[in-house]
Amino acid sequence: TRVAILFGGRSAEHDVSRASAANIFRSLDAGRYAVTLIGITPGGRWVLADAANDATSAALAVPADGPDIVLLPAGQGRALVIDTGGAAPRELAFDVIFPVLHGPNGEDGTVQGALELADVAYVGGRVLGSAVAMDKDAAKRLLRDAGLPIVPFVTMTAAVPVSYDDAARAVGASELFVKPANLGSSVGISKARNADEFDAACKLALRFDRKILIERCIAPVREIECAVLERPDGEVKASELGEIVPAGSHGFYSYEAKYTDANGASLHVPAQVEPALAARIRKMAIETFGVLCCESLARVDFFVRGDEVYVNEVNTLPGFTNISMYPKMWEATGLPQPALMDELITHALA
Ligand code: ADP
Ligand code: DAL
Ligand code: MG
Repeated sequence: TRVAILFGGRSAEHDVSRASAANIFRSLDAGRYAVTLIGITPGGRWVLADAANDATSAALAVPADGPDIVLLPAGQGRALVIDTGGAAPRELAFDVIFPVLHGPNGEDGTVQGALELADVAYVGGRVLGSAVAMDKDAAKRLLRDAGLPIVPFVTMTAAVPVSYDDAARAVGASELFVKPANLGSSVGISKARNADEFDAACKLALRFDRKILIERCIAPVREIECAVLERPDGEVKASELGEIVPAGSHGFYSYEAKYTDANGASLHVPAQVEPALAARIRKMAIETFGVLCCESLARVDFFVRGDEVYVNEVNTLPGFTNISMYPKMWEATGLPQPALMDELITHALA
């Protein structure tokens, strides 16, 4: 099977995608898959990246330059490689594309739409589920409508600002979390306990998105995650749970705690959660997957305080880095990563 891995991308999670893609590249059985690497530069160019990488890379490199790739809506995953040096275009063909992209312009339905038009099989959810899960505001409204528990929030744009006092009153707390509506990896997120911190937090979040969320801070909080996988036959399964405990010095599970500080968080898989509560969370994970129109895979993240459970967010192309929870949770459920890759690719081709 000819697989093209798409990675990098025009998103603040570009570097996380490079690390996820390296891990996925390594776990694809070389006897079954012929892999082509296609990097997307931060500026949005698609370039052939095979020569710049091998299976030992910790994070795949996206060449700044090189032959451009143009995906043509010609069916059967046909792509043109246009040699920018002026040589005649060549054609590449793939059976399936694996978009290992995080955040806007990759995980949000945009690339999925391009792949739909190109009529090529691809791994992961399609346009609607990707778009809805990426927008935390849209996702939370749908979850609330379905009766799933979410943390109280308000949204705000630069054009229609909300004051600290109004936001605090609306969500019923003085300690707030401020975050871009469309992003991930904790980029642009901070906590605010007063008007000054709130203004700084909003300014930061608005650098990344036109719409931001202001939420009640849940504390003390347990961060529990569940991996969901739709089997090629349509059965939707929930994994063993995992728990993340960020180091106290980070305050919350920030970008640094996730990716730059090797001791930024401890991960526990399976999580020590009382069986009845774990069963409730797994059931909610599958409901959330359905409500948000997800397909193939998603990681559903929860906040837990005592017996209270909130659905925090859903990642439709969750991290696959060495420390990432999605593959770890399946591993703990009896599905090692190479077999998980087979499931995802078989689903895409079904
Ligand atoms: P991202 O998509 O960037 O991962 P999240 O909504 O998951 O955004 O927030 C990132 C982290 O910030 C969470 O893992 C958690 O540590 C902290 N956090 C976010 N919202 C809240 C909240 N309402 N209460 C407590 N902690 C929060
Ligand atoms: N958005 C990152 C990659 C994650 O949640 O895994
Ligand atoms: Mg998160």
